[in-house]
Amino acid sequence: MNQIKLAKGVYYVGCKDWKLRDFHGFTTVRGVTYNAYLIVDEKICLVDLVKNTFADELLARISSILPPEKIDYIVMNHVENDQASALPQVMEKAAGAKIFITAAGAKEAARLYGQYDYNIVKEGDKLELGENSLHFVTLPMLHWPDSMVAYMPGEKILFSNDAFGQHICASSPFDDGSDLAAVMEEAQNYYANILMPYSKLIGGALGKAGGLAIETIAPSHGVIWRSHIKDILEKYAFWGQGGVKDKVLVVYDSMWGATERMAKAIWEGAAKTGVDARLYKPGPAENSRIVAELLDAAGALFGSPTLNYGMMPSIGGLLLYLKGLKPAGKLAASFGTYGWSGGAQKDMDELLQKAGMSLEPALTLNWAPSAEDLSNCENFGFNFANKACPPKH
Ligand code: FEO
Repeated sequence: MNQIKLAKGVYYVGCKDWKLRDFHGFTTVRGVTYNAYLIVDEKICLVDLVKNTFADELLARISSILPPEKIDYIVMNHVENDQASALPQVMEKAAGAKIFITAAGAKEAARLYGQYDYNIVKEGDKLELGENSLHFVTLPMLHWPDSMVAYMPGEKILFSNDAFGQHICASSPFDDGSDLAAVMEEAQNYYANILMPYSKLIGGALGKAGGLAIETIAPSHGVIWRSHIKDILEKYAFWGQGGVKDKVLVVYDSMWGATERMAKAIWEGAAKTGVDARLYKPGPAENSRIVAELLDAAGALFGSPTLNYGMMPSIGGLLLYLKGLKPAGKLAASFGTYGWSGGAQKDMDELLQKAGMSLEPALTLNWAPSAEDLSNCENFGFNFANKACPPKH
């Protein structure tokens, strides 16, 4: 196995899950990595672990550097299954290892993975390794109560846990050896699907990071940042502040094509304003991709015909997902056709409000749209896009 070095005495020992396409509902078209890092100093320290199904590979990677039995310390920045569930297999080898973890993390780790030598760390605590040390910064609710990051001042490495991660398997472990456009796309996808509900906390976290000299960001997923740190920090600042582009989405499903015709006319109207207008149908487009596109959009229109007195399940599933992710403050409106009775717009509007979006009046039509109706749809899209993205002059 190749040894992958980040800095003097610091190795990447993570694993790539090239074939995973569903990360608890998040579609991962480029696979997933579970990153872990080994620091070889007077004390041997493993930072983060991997999913339990990759424990053998983690141990093999560690063994290519030194026997896993020599591990003195394990830093568990987070206890979620994807990056911590290999703990029991690692502890079978490194039975004497001390684990450094937040109080919230220790409680859950004991329940999930077993009782080991958990040592509670708090904000500002330091772990001496020899030449190097790790300084702990707690980030509760980014994105779990136990979350923390570890900073190694000697080599200026931030072990950033889920923050700055991306679900992507790339040949190189580093940003500068990878397709940067793909990495950035997946960083946006990751932020939207994992971190968006906690955006209000991002500013504070970046404030803590702002005081650190950072030459490497080593996240728990995706490539390691060393050449584009400023770029990813700027992206997080933009997303965390709710920054948007002149962009709107039109997302719809349709039974017999009437709501689709409305959606296309609404899209025409929105595009006429000059904004970046994008049309999506859940199913062909994965919900997690639509959410990633929504992250930097100023607004979105959601369309469904009435089916059984309510909205179509495809739109319902997406809006339920958005209710949890809370794309707060973005402009939203619903539209769609109905036949014998309505109901879809009421369902959609309720969920859009619960998602924290700023709701505009809906546009509904009985049966199929006429030429005049389609012209009204264009105007609806035009006016919505102008309101979401006011003209600059
Ligand atoms: Fe990558 Fe929240 O675990």
